[in-house]
Amino acid sequence: MAMIAFKCPDISVTVADINESRIAAWNSDDLPVFEPGLDDIVATARGRNLFFTTDKVAAIKEADIIFVSVGTPTKTYGVDAGRAADLKYVELCARDIAEYSDRSKIVVEKSTIPVRTAESLKTVLTANSNADVQFQVLSNPEFLAEGTAMEDLDNPDRVLIGGEETPEGLEAMETLTSVYAHWIDRDRIIQTNLWSSELSKLVANAFLAQRISSINSISALCEETGANVDEVASAIGKDSRIGPKFLKASVGFGGSCFQKDLLNLVYLCEHFGLPEVSEYWRGVIEMNDWQKRRFSTKIINALFNTVNGKRIALLGFAFKKDTNDTRESPAIYVGKDLLEEEADLAIYDPKVSPDQIRYDLGIEADSSKLDICDDPYEAVKGAHGVAILTEWDAFRDLDYQRIFDNMMKPAFIFDGRNIANRAQLKEIGFEVYAIGR
Ligand code: UGA
Repeated sequence: MAMIAFKCPDISVTVADINESRIAAWNSDDLPVFEPGLDDIVATARGRNLFFTTDKVAAIKEADIIFVSVGTPTKTYGVDAGRAADLKYVELCARDIAEYSDRSKIVVEKSTIPVRTAESLKTVLTANSNADVQFQVLSNPEFLAEGTAMEDLDNPDRVLIGGEETPEGLEAMETLTSVYAHWIDRDRIIQTNLWSSELSKLVANAFLAQRISSINSISALCEETGANVDEVASAIGKDSRIGPKFLKASVGFGGSCFQKDLLNLVYLCEHFGLPEVSEYWRGVIEMNDWQKRRFSTKIINALFNTVNGKRIALLGFAFKKDTNDTRESPAIYVGKDLLEEEADLAIYDPKVSPDQIRYDLGIEADSSKLDICDDPYEAVKGAHGVAILTEWDAFRDLDYQRIFDNMMKPAFIFDGRNIANRAQLKEIGFEVYAIGR
């Protein structure tokens, strides 16, 4: 929404949320998410044509287009817990929109939701509004990635808009297209039917996640055979049909979307009686779980099969660089595995808050099992092993000699992102484990 406001000074954008502290943060100099370039864009548009408010009623009444951008987490309770998406917030939002709208509006699904949710959205909206208020429901999934969100929004590969194939549906799609056309070529703004748009979002994430699980599965084979997974990735990526992106072997993918969207896809396939398809995509999640566990097992095995009472430093806790987001971060899984083996953890991440790390690991503030450090050199002091879990650029240029000097010997380094210079580390005297080498 900030980017739309930034690019379209003639359009007034209001972001409404019932969470008061969050809205206060959006109205302050300390935004609640860290995203490179976002501060500047908000600073330019805020107060001009970008507003943050907790007054959802006024925001709904005034709007011509409403983007529904609420959370759609995996269900944690009841029927299909752990598999289906929880659409509670989407439905509550639809009920609010129906209640407070006194004229016709376009309602855009921005949250990633399972296919055919637009239909439910439309049903709730229509059943709760009066006859002279009409709603056109559009699907407009978001493809930005965290850390590069501003570039992705500024110059997207495509914008996808799904709508009903009726005159009113087509007109609504045109209206939304005209918003994006302020800065994006029309040939990159794709219009499809509602279900294609909803499904494309799930499938795009499933394909991306599948590439990572594929290369990660090969990383295990490389470790057994002496091949180097980065060399294999580079060689296959030169084939223009395969392409070079998303082939970086790692400790596993994280983030709020891949696992959730894969689970949605798996669930949908099961629901529609396609168990083979469902199993196929479930394999992508299973490979990712295996890769994360494989990494923590490597650490334990290397440290003479016991980490009990040993200090292990984790460098990086965010699920990828340039974000403070830890949702589904592999670091959480590795950290928990090590804590279960009674290790003492020392953690450094340049952007993730200590409270978040404690919350994710389920550790009390006064626990002696967890030391959250302000700099990486402090974290490695007296450590038996160091694990690199996020590919922060700063971790490439660390003074690894200094790290080595501060560690217990033998000093082990486990590079879960293949970013450190392996030959250099070996020369310093480290025992090195890197994914797929
Ligand atoms: C992902 C998609 O890339 C976006 O297109 C999509 O809009 C977004 O989900 C979403 O649905 O909201 P995001 O989760 O922000 O974006 O980040 P990615 O860059 O996709 O990375 C996901 C995870 O995969 C990270 O843990 C990353 O470290 C890992 N990864 C990525 C690898 O392990 N290897 C790679 O080659 C690429």
